[in-house]
Amino acid sequence: MTAGEGDAAASWEPVTAGRSGARVWRGTDRYRKHGDPAGIAAEAHRVTWLAGRRVPCPRVVGHRPRELVTTAVPGRPAVELTTAAARDRAVDSLADLLRTLHDLPVRDCPFDMSLAVTVPAAEAAVTAGTVDLADLDDVRRGWSADRLRAELHRTRPASEDLVVCHNDLTLTNVLVADDGTVTGVVDVARLGVADRHSDLALVTRDLAGEWHPYHAARFLTRYGPSRTDQAKIDFFQLLDEFF
Ligand SMILES: Nc1ncnc2c1ncn2[C@@H]1O[C@H](COP(=O)(O)OP(=O)(O)O)[C@@H](O)[C@H]1O
Ligand SMILES: [Mg+2]
Repeated sequence: MTAGEGDAAASWEPVTAGRSGARVWRGTDRYRKHGDPAGIAAEAHRVTWLAGRRVPCPRVVGHRPRELVTTAVPGRPAVELTTAAARDRAVDSLADLLRTLHDLPVRDCPFDMSLAVTVPAAEAAVTAGTVDLADLDDVRRGWSADRLRAELHRTRPASEDLVVCHNDLTLTNVLVADDGTVTGVVDVARLGVADRHSDLALVTRDLAGEWHPYHAARFLTRYGPSRTDQAKIDFFQLLDEFF
């Protein structure tokens, strides 16, 4: 018996959204994720740490080496919103939530996702051959892994504005109510202390690509008042290509 199967009423439906290679199922009031032990452990530790820290996320129900069962965050993925009013509400609500996350005390967060960790991890992905060169952003279409790596080192920021980041902030990893109000975040396996532009880069790319550049601009205005560093935005979008 696996965790969660003790609930006789649970019937598990496969969920197709997501891109990590993990497999996810939806039960009546919980989610079950299967993946490699390191990824599952990383997510379990982070979701436990984030609980009760003013950023809504799932609670752990069961954790085994290759399986994590969590409570369901209510709502649906933000990417499914269609009306202009709900999208605007989601943008504003998510910007406010990201401020709350970024304002958590860095010293309380045990997960280091600074460049000292993530750049070597990107190198390791090149060595392991796991970079998906068929899924690069349009600006890097056709690039080799060596070219990606050279650009990563050429554009690596000299300093980091460290905050607690989600580090995989896409519109499928954010859950919303029908009116767009954010109900929580999921998929926190990469959460940790990183430059705030790590989150700003990924969320604005998704907002502009899935919806409209207007939504990305609105997000940054609401998130303000800190000035956005475009070179860092570009760098963190490049860094994400490796994972
Ligand atoms: N605890 C949860 N509550 C609500 N939705 C969830 C939960 N866990 C996963 N999901 C849904 O399943 C999708 C895939 O899960 P996710 O953890 O993001 O996997 P992946 O690593 O494959 O992206 C999410 O985008 C979300 O829609
Ligand atoms: Mg996901």
